[in-house]
Amino acid sequence: MFMSFAPMEGVTGAAYRRIHRQMFPGADRYYAPFVSPDTAGTVKRSQLEALRRDEDPEFPLVPQILANNAASFLAAARRLADLGYGEINLNLGCPSGTVAAKHKGAGLLADADALRRLLDGIFAQPPAAVSVKTRMGWASTAEFPALLEIFRAYPLAELIVHARDRAGMYRSDPDVGGFASVPALCPFPVCYNGNVFSPADLARLRSALPGLERVMIGRGAAADPALFRLLRGGDPLGAGELRAFLDALLDEALSSGLSPVYALSRMKELWYYLRWKFPGCDKELKAVFKSRRIENYRAALDALFDGGGFDPYSFYGSRDGYTKEMPLSF
Ligand SMILES: Cc1cc2nc3c(=O)[nH]c(=O)nc-3n(C[C@H](O)[C@H](O)[C@H](O)COP(=O)(O)O)c2cc1C
Repeated sequence: MFMSFAPMEGVTGAAYRRIHRQMFPGADRYYAPFVSPDTAGTVKRSQLEALRRDEDPEFPLVPQILANNAASFLAAARRLADLGYGEINLNLGCPSGTVAAKHKGAGLLADADALRRLLDGIFAQPPAAVSVKTRMGWASTAEFPALLEIFRAYPLAELIVHARDRAGMYRSDPDVGGFASVPALCPFPVCYNGNVFSPADLARLRSALPGLERVMIGRGAAADPALFRLLRGGDPLGAGELRAFLDALLDEALSSGLSPVYALSRMKELWYYLRWKFPGCDKELKAVFKSRRIENYRAALDALFDGGGFDPYSFYGSRDGYTKEMPLSF
């Protein structure tokens, strides 16, 4: 099965992707969090910097653009094609209210004419192959057959379907039944996305979708960096390699010039997902989230890892391992 690491703004940045691939190979492809060009198509320098390919031109990465008009998409896409990308992804899934209000991301799913205009413009002169990452609708996944009619009219490189409507944000149950007929209806590859957190989740999905060839995983992989390896029949995550991964990420953040406070806030974003690997360790986790200085953070990690509460089979959302609800924030 072809497996990709989903784009996650604030989590899967350039350093994360590089270190993850070095230490936990297993994902066939990564998608970068979106860049958001202004109306003239200009992309922030920092966003372009994060997509430079000089160090490893072969890294399997697809950048993503969030835009609501073809001119700004194409201007940004040309910049990305100049960096060496052969495929660029269009974001039609971002559920944020401010994004949707600008008719971007999932906001476009509520306006079929605007969506068609955008795709007409993009596919008239694309500087690279273009794939789409979409939700199944705005208010309901029942909108998807009509959306699919639109997508099928264009030569997409791939259609990635996050099997929820926008109203479901990240919480509703994915509409696996609604997705089932989609791959057979499309002349391009189709990828399933949504709530694959563990081997049991993938097994359930495969039995519901027997011909499934592509899956994209986000939060499950953020919560378990070895998940792709495990899904391919390899070893579960080890505590030692998780600690080495975290140390490498922090060292990279600090050596790249981020302030300690900012570097720690980035690490805590990861801990929002990683905490599922430490069921029953609320006290130690609280110390990780409360740490304000690097020394305190490292000491809190020592206590957490030494405490023996690491459980490689406790997955994001605790569906198969830990069943107690974890607090959402400390
Ligand atoms: C913190 C966070 C940031 C995200 N950033 C992006 C993004 O930049 N682009 C995008 O297309 N999707 C983004 N997503 C959505 C994920 O790519 C994915 O579609 C969603 O989490 C469902 O997959 P999962 O259940 O495997 O996590 C983000 C999700 C989260 C939780």
